[in-house]
Amino acid sequence: MFKALILGAAAGGGLPQWNCGCDNCNLARAGKIPSSTQSSLAISIDGERWVVLNASPDIRSQIADNPALHPTGLRKSPIAAVLLTNGDIDHVAGLLSLREQQPFALHATGEIHDVLAANPLLNAVDPARVPRVTIALDKETTLLPGLTATLFSVPGKVPLYMEGAEVKTDLEGEQTTGVHIHAEGRDIYYIPGCAAVTKRLADRLKGADMVFFDGTLWRDEEMLEMGLSQKTGKRMGHISMSGPEGSIAALRDLGIGRKVFVHMNNSNPVFRPDAAERAEAEAAGWTIGQDGMELTL
Ligand code: MLT
Ligand code: MN
Ligand code: ZN
Repeated sequence: MFKALILGAAAGGGLPQWNCGCDNCNLARAGKIPSSTQSSLAISIDGERWVVLNASPDIRSQIADNPALHPTGLRKSPIAAVLLTNGDIDHVAGLLSLREQQPFALHATGEIHDVLAANPLLNAVDPARVPRVTIALDKETTLLPGLTATLFSVPGKVPLYMEGAEVKTDLEGEQTTGVHIHAEGRDIYYIPGCAAVTKRLADRLKGADMVFFDGTLWRDEEMLEMGLSQKTGKRMGHISMSGPEGSIAALRDLGIGRKVFVHMNNSNPVFRPDAAERAEAEAAGWTIGQDGMELTL
């Protein structure tokens, strides 16, 4: 059986974010809505060996909170591999917590590996024990027996810490990818960062059994309107959930079996169980991802 375990459903910063006093963050701090750690998904077919998609800065607590990922012996981890979909801090900083001489395979595109290789801190994750495996776009790779992954480009931008004076937010290349997982005869997609749903992407997702998708913002201007940031979702390289160009509309008629939002920013109203926006997303067939949620096929 294919299993997906949401380790962290929030975008960078998590919920609550350390320096944020917005309503959602305050509610989470008060225990009135569930807290959420940063973006990561674990997948498996036997429940014994797992691949972690994106290594969140919260991976230490995510492993502690999910018994399936606990050590199975002295210095023995069920995590066989880590795959990165981009080089953003919320997706790679957790690698630093995985440095205790534990072998696993680290998969990413060549461009993402170049970003990692340029950072000497990451030498602590010794490439002699943690081989850095380059995955070419659109080439199927076996991650576990019976489970393959194909990385494909989606519109996006370079990581925040690599931004120059001018930022293109709709690059299609190796910097922002989605993953097509094939296991147990099923097609699963994991796309935690995406600036727009192109026709090519919509065609790809047609008839998928399960899609985990970028749920960063509800509205493009929500962080500006809340006084949290000067940036729109578009500027951050993230499509919004709502609106005629949003992900709910774009993925509405694609015959997708199960749609799950992940990578929600702490400003997103869907984090509140009683929010009208959450009801709207759910009425459109979406599940709002939550830490510890397990989905099977
Ligand atoms: C993003 O998803 O836009 C990034 O994770 C932002 C960041 O690096 O803080
Ligand atoms: Mn992010
Ligand atoms: Zn907040």
